[in-house]
Amino acid sequence: MNIQSLLSTLTIEEKAGQLLQLAPFFFIKDLKVEVAGALRALDLSEADIFLAGSVLGIHDAKEMIAVQKKYLQRSRHKIPLMFMADVIHGYETIFPIPIALASSFHPDLAKKAARIAALEAQTAGIHVTFAPMVDVSRDPRWGRVMEGFGEDAYLASCFSRASVEGFQHDGIGKEGNLAACVKHFAAYGAPEAGRDYNTVDMSMHTFYNHYAPPYQAGIKAGAHLVMTAFNTFNGIPATVHQGLLRDILRGQMGFDGVVITDYDALQQVITHGVASELKDVARLAIEAGVDIEMASTAYFRYLKTLIDEGVIPLALLDEAVLRILTLKEKLGLFDNPFKGADALKATQRVRHPDHLATSERIARECTVLLKNDHQVLPLDKTRSIALIGPYVNESSTNGNWSWHGDHRLNETLHHAFARKGHDIVMAKTGNQATDYDRQDIDTLKQADVIIVCAGEQARQSGEARSRTRLDLPDGQETLIKMAKATGKPVVVLLFCGRPLVLKEILKADAVMLCWFLGSRAASAIVDLVNGTFNPSGRLPMTFPQNEGQIPIYYNHLNTGRPYRDERNEYVSKYLDVSNDPQLSFGHGLSYARFNYEDMRLDKEVMAINETLTITVTVTNDSQQAGHEVIQLYIRDLVSLPVRPVKELKGFQKVWFDPAETKSIVFELKAKDLSAFDQHGKPQIEPGTFDVFVGGGSNTTLSRRFVLKDVGIK
Ligand code: NOJ
Repeated sequence: MNIQSLLSTLTIEEKAGQLLQLAPFFFIKDLKVEVAGALRALDLSEADIFLAGSVLGIHDAKEMIAVQKKYLQRSRHKIPLMFMADVIHGYETIFPIPIALASSFHPDLAKKAARIAALEAQTAGIHVTFAPMVDVSRDPRWGRVMEGFGEDAYLASCFSRASVEGFQHDGIGKEGNLAACVKHFAAYGAPEAGRDYNTVDMSMHTFYNHYAPPYQAGIKAGAHLVMTAFNTFNGIPATVHQGLLRDILRGQMGFDGVVITDYDALQQVITHGVASELKDVARLAIEAGVDIEMASTAYFRYLKTLIDEGVIPLALLDEAVLRILTLKEKLGLFDNPFKGADALKATQRVRHPDHLATSERIARECTVLLKNDHQVLPLDKTRSIALIGPYVNESSTNGNWSWHGDHRLNETLHHAFARKGHDIVMAKTGNQATDYDRQDIDTLKQADVIIVCAGEQARQSGEARSRTRLDLPDGQETLIKMAKATGKPVVVLLFCGRPLVLKEILKADAVMLCWFLGSRAASAIVDLVNGTFNPSGRLPMTFPQNEGQIPIYYNHLNTGRPYRDERNEYVSKYLDVSNDPQLSFGHGLSYARFNYEDMRLDKEVMAINETLTITVTVTNDSQQAGHEVIQLYIRDLVSLPVRPVKELKGFQKVWFDPAETKSIVFELKAKDLSAFDQHGKPQIEPGTFDVFVGGGSNTTLSRRFVLKDVGIK
């Protein structure tokens, strides 16, 4: 297909139509797809609808084929519609939520999950997924932390890259692959006070160093689309921010794909108070380089007038249409407009046993053992258990953003414990202590171990799910008190989509963070509880002691008055709690015990064009095999602008047999030691650095070296 000559045959109205994205409902009114208020209010005529360029959300192959067929019959130019949807952590086979995937510290798992999600989703005729969401966040009040990869730019970049590679696999032209859309550009994960959609105001220095890298990683991995963010970014709505979208995204980051707005975002520019008419919004957006307008009609209604009046050149519209047509071409839609949509294939592929088994394998690496006093876990199957709490008989373990996953097909914890041969003396659902009577308490006392299956509901995290209180909802903490009062060992299995305030929960003897692990959550969790597998997840976000510490993150700056001891009153501290988090980034226990020793650098002085080799000896000092996540951090001791007290620069997830010792090697190059200035230019500052290695960000095992100013050409 010659895209340029196709473009020249289109009228301005047809070109503007390519920029419009609508829900399937518009094309076929009796579809079951839900249409939110903003879409219903668009007030489009029948003729308008058949000019649209893409579709948001589709249910299955039958619907896709029906919509595409009708569209192609009715449209003059017969350019196929492109179908997009939120395939976030699985299609029908659901994988752990992204923050849980990040906890695995094993990006290849995110790649596998994305690959299967793409294979399944494509059978419904979906071509583009609105994923991965790579917004870094330091604020667990924000409900969408469940959908991202945590607080650290390096970790999130690894997962961003892996997800894009998984979705797009060996090319978006091939059947079974989806085009990825990195979102939300930019800095959507930093809304003030953790309230979704709220204002974002950050220094460019913070942006380039801590928020931009995961977008850049996804783009470098070849993502074909980028979605704009709802928030303002330094005073301008990101969705019409020319500096952000043209200069940074397209200029600095080298993105040449399609930019799509978030849902209804152009209309919302008026609500932001930046324009009073949609016509002005259309001008701002096209000047900023936005291509597709999701669920609003600024472009569709006003681009032609703006061009006719000479306010904007036709070239701006042509540029956007060209990018959209090029994407359709790359997807192979001109050759096969129904690409992927195959009801028969769907029945063979979707929820295939291999996919479910992979989901379970991945889930096993995503739980984080937060606490395990007196080695309560792993739990021998001969020890009797009592199961209490809201998640005993609950199958809603898919988590938010899993709209095609039917949670009713998931096994419950109760069922999985029974199926795997555990001795269950009681399994009773309840939210708080008052749901359990005297007889229940007597039964609890007969169990060897009490397991409290607690947490947020799946819909308490996700979009528009911000919270100011991060304790367990519905008075569930009373369950832990009740269980503790029996004098029996208490294990908490904790379901949530964000870091919670754990004070009460940590009074239990053992706590396993289960997040929302998807289709095979229960089976994976039970196998981890009984030691069939060894937990190996690590925290991708800091857990605060209380909400007042937020934002709290490991890679903070030192300040001029850091807290060191109690003698100086005028230092950066609180009167009521220490500066320490409840649990730090990178923390996570194992049933094995790992010792680190003999950390060595191959040189004490490193020239700028040399590689520094760091070696450490790690020993599994236990009879339990398992993975250790070996983490490498640096600190640049003298630098302008200032650098954080620690920065993750590498990690390796390594398997150890019982009592096995391994020599672990990391390499650092000068570019790994660099930081961005406020214009986004990487700067390498010679000087003294500390390098740390260990099993978490609070490691103190370190060595010092000097980066010398030689070797620069
Ligand atoms: C709004 C969300 O912010 C975005 O992430 C999502 O892709 C769109 N809705 C479409 O569902």
